[in-house]
Amino acid sequence: MLCLSAFELLLEKVRMATEQITYDPAGVVLPKHGLAADALAGLTQQLEMARKEVLDDAQLWATGKQPPTEKEPLDAGFHELPERLLADYSNHRVESEVGRIGATATGLAAQVDRVVVLGIGGSYMGARALMEACCHPYHNALPRAGRRAWPRVTFAGNNVDNDTTQGLFDLLRHGELASQLVERWAVVVVSKSGGTLETAVAFRQFLKLLRSSVGDDSKRLAQLVIPVTGKSGKLFDLATDLGCPEIFQVPDGVGGRFSVLSAVGLLPAAVMGLHIVKILEGAVAMNEHFQTARVGENAVLDYVGICHAMEARRGCSTRVLSTWGSRLEALGLWYDQLLAESLGKQERGATPLTVVNTRDLHSRGQQHQEGSRDKLITNVIVGRPDRDPLAVGVSEHNQDQLNELSEKTLPDILAAAIQGTNQAYRDENRPTANLHLPRLNEHVLGQLFQMLMLATVVEGRLIGINPYGQPGVEAYKKNMNAILRPAKPQAEN
Ligand code: PA5
Repeated sequence: MLCLSAFELLLEKVRMATEQITYDPAGVVLPKHGLAADALAGLTQQLEMARKEVLDDAQLWATGKQPPTEKEPLDAGFHELPERLLADYSNHRVESEVGRIGATATGLAAQVDRVVVLGIGGSYMGARALMEACCHPYHNALPRAGRRAWPRVTFAGNNVDNDTTQGLFDLLRHGELASQLVERWAVVVVSKSGGTLETAVAFRQFLKLLRSSVGDDSKRLAQLVIPVTGKSGKLFDLATDLGCPEIFQVPDGVGGRFSVLSAVGLLPAAVMGLHIVKILEGAVAMNEHFQTARVGENAVLDYVGICHAMEARRGCSTRVLSTWGSRLEALGLWYDQLLAESLGKQERGATPLTVVNTRDLHSRGQQHQEGSRDKLITNVIVGRPDRDPLAVGVSEHNQDQLNELSEKTLPDILAAAIQGTNQAYRDENRPTANLHLPRLNEHVLGQLFQMLMLATVVEGRLIGINPYGQPGVEAYKKNMNAILRPAKPQAEN
C-alpha cells in the first residue's frame, strides 16, 4: 500500500466516511401494508443475536475447528477475507496474493489485448458486476489507449450456447497466429470445484483455439492461461499439466457466491484496470460498520430487519432490487444468485428480482404499482455520476417541446423519476426502502458486496436456514451427467 503522510491519511479518512453506503427504510412506514415506525427497534434483540452468531461463526471458522453438525457446511471464510488479504499485502507485497494478482494483470496487459474470463455462477457474476459498475461503460469497444492499455474483458463459459460461443470464436480467430498485440488474447478460467461442466467444456474449446493462435509454443500457451481454482481437482491437474506458471486459489471456506473478494473477482477486476486494494478496503469498512453500528444505524442489520419483517408480517416474499441507471444490473444479478442460493431452502426463502430503471418502469412498473402486494422494493440510488451532467439542451426544432427543460440534465431527470416513482408507490401504500451509494467506484462496490453477503448470512441465522452450501443445485447436474454419460450395458459372459 502507499505510504501516506498524516495529513493525507486524514483526507483519506474523510473521503472514506463520505463514501459510505447508507440504508433508509422510511418508505416502508405506511398506514396500510407497511410497517410501524418502531418495527425495526422491536427487532433489535433478534438482530443483535443473529449478528453475534455470524461473528462467532467467523471466529469458529478461523480456529479451523470442526463446526457442530447443525452448522455444516460453515463457509464463513469470506467474512474476514478482505482483512487477511490486505494484511498479507502489507506484509509481503509482491509475494502476497494481491501483489501476485496485480503483477499477473499487468503482465497480461503487456502481452494481450483481450482476456476471456471463463466461469459460471459465483465464479463469474461478481467480476461482471465490477466491470459494469466501475469500468468505462464501453470499455471493450474503446481503442487500447482509451482503456489505458488494459485488455478487453469478455465473459464466456457461463452457458452452453452454441452460436454465442461460435460468435466469440469469430472475434478471436481474427487474430489467429496473431502478429500484433491487439490481436492477442488470453484466458482466465475460474472454477472452484474445477469440475463444472459448462466451464470445463468452454475451457477445452477455448484452449484449442488459443493453441492454434500460438502455434506449437507450449510455454507461451501456458503463460496465456491463468486458472483460479481449488487446491486440487480436475482444473488444477489440467493447469499443472499445461505448466501454467500462476495458479490462483479459491481460499478454503469461501463458497462460490461468497468469493468475489478473492482472486475469483479480484483477478478479472485487476485485468480491467480496477484498483483492487480499494475494493478490499471498502469491504473492510463495511465489516467494521457491521460490527460496531447499532440497530437503526447499521446498514446490514437494518436491511435484514426490514426485509424480514416485510416478508414475515406483510407477505412480501418478492424482493425487488430496483437499480437506477444502467450500471448496476450485473450487481443485481450477482445478488439474485447470492440470495436465491443461500436462503432458497426447506421450501422457504424470498425471491430476488433485479430491475433496472428507468428502463423497467416501461415493463414491470405497472405490476409494481398495481399488482399483487407481495413485493418490497429496495431502490439502489447512486449519489452522483462520474462524468459532467449532460443537459437536454436547446434546439431550433422544438416539436418535442423540450426547450423548457433545456437546462435539466440527465441526473435531474433520473432524480425526478426516482422521486416520482417512490411517491406513486407511497400513495398506494407500496413499501420502498433506499440504499444510497455515494457514487460508483471500487471502494463503494467493496462495501456493497460485503454488505449484501453479510446481510444474507445474518438473515439465514435469523430465520434458522444455513446460508452456506447449495444442495439443490446438484440435482440438475446429476441428471445432466446421467443423460450425457449413460451407463454402458454390461458385457454378456
Ligand atoms: O455459489 C456457488 O457455489 C455456485 O454458484 C458456483 O459458483 C457455481 O456453480 C460454479 O462452481 P465452480 O466455481 O465450482 O465452477
